[in-house]
Amino acid sequence: MKTAEGTIIQLPKVKILATGGTIAGSALLKTQMSEYKAGAIGIQTLLDAVPQVKDHADVSGEQICQISSNNITDGIWLQIAKKVNAIFNNGEAEGIVITHGTDTLEETAYFLNLVIKSTNPVVLVGAMRPATAISADGPINLLNAVRLAGNPLAKNKGVLIAMNDEINGARDATKTNTSHVNTFRAPELGYMGYINNGEAFFYNASLRKHTLSSEFVVNDLDKLPYVEIIYGHANDSRILVDAAVEAGVRGIIYAGMGNGSIHEKAEEGLIAAQKKGVVIVRSSRCGNGTVKGGQVKYSKENFLTGDSLSPQKARILLSLALTKTNKLDEIQRMFNEY
Ligand code: SIN
Repeated sequence: MKTAEGTIIQLPKVKILATGGTIAGSALLKTQMSEYKAGAIGIQTLLDAVPQVKDHADVSGEQICQISSNNITDGIWLQIAKKVNAIFNNGEAEGIVITHGTDTLEETAYFLNLVIKSTNPVVLVGAMRPATAISADGPINLLNAVRLAGNPLAKNKGVLIAMNDEINGARDATKTNTSHVNTFRAPELGYMGYINNGEAFFYNASLRKHTLSSEFVVNDLDKLPYVEIIYGHANDSRILVDAAVEAGVRGIIYAGMGNGSIHEKAEEGLIAAQKKGVVIVRSSRCGNGTVKGGQVKYSKENFLTGDSLSPQKARILLSLALTKTNKLDEIQRMFNEY
C-alpha cells in the first residue's frame, strides 16, 4: 500500500473465513435486534461495508458456510481446521479471521486452539446485533479483528476472540450474556487484552497448551469421537446416561452440581457406563472454579475431572483425547495440561 507521503508499506496478508452468525445477520427493520436471519449476508458484502480493513491488511475472504452457529458440526470444524492449517502451511496469510455466530463461537475457538499447527494469529469474531441494525457492532468488530490478525503481537497466544474492544483467549472465555455486546468474558481469569482505538494491548496469556504445543492432529480425520454432555440437576435420573450409552457414546461429560457432584441416580448409570468403557469426566455447571478431584468416591469409580473447563469445552477436549487414547490416566493428564 502507498501512504499519503508516497511511502510503500507492506500490509500483512489476512484471510477471512466466514461461517455466518449475527455478524452476517439481516432483519427487516433497523430496530430489530432479535428477530433476524443469522448468516444471511455473504463475506464480500460484509467486507464492502468496512472498506477501512484495506488500510490495515491485504484481505481476502472465503465463505465456508452461512449458518446460525447453534447448527455448527464437527464436520465444519474439521473443514475449518484443515483449511487454516493449509493456509499457514502454504504461506497464504500471516493471520486468519473467522467470522462466526456468538452462540458456539467459544467452542469453535477452543477446538481450533487445540488443533491449529501454527503460532500465527487466528481471531474469531462475531456480533450481537445484526448487520442491518442501528449501531451494529459487527463492522467495528471485524475491523479490529483484521487488525489483530495482522499484528505480530497476537502471535503464539492461542486462538483469540476479539469483540467489543476486548481480547479473550479461546480456553477461558465464554458467552456470558444472551444479548449484550460485552458478552464474552473469562469471569475469573480475565481478558487477555484490550483494543484501544484499533490498537491491541496484551496483559495476560494462557499457560495451558495450545496450537504448536498441542498433541492433537486432525488433518487426516473425517469425524470425531462421539461425546455427550449430561446436565446434572435436582431429581436427576440415569435415563439420559443410559440413552447415551445405547446411542454408542464414547465419553460423557457430566455437568455436575457444585464441585462436580452427581445425583445418586445418575451416578448409578455413569458407573454402569464406565464399566462398559465409556469415559466419564466430571465438570461443573457453576461456571467458575475447578473440578479437580476432592471426592474420593468418584475417583474410585474411575471418573475423571475436567479442571476449569466448562462442560462444552470439556466435551471438545475429551473428544480429541479419544482420537489418541482410551487410557484414563493419559486422558486425565490431558485435562491437567490443556
Ligand atoms: C449465532 O450464533 O449464529 C446466532 C447468535 C449470534 O451470532 O450472536
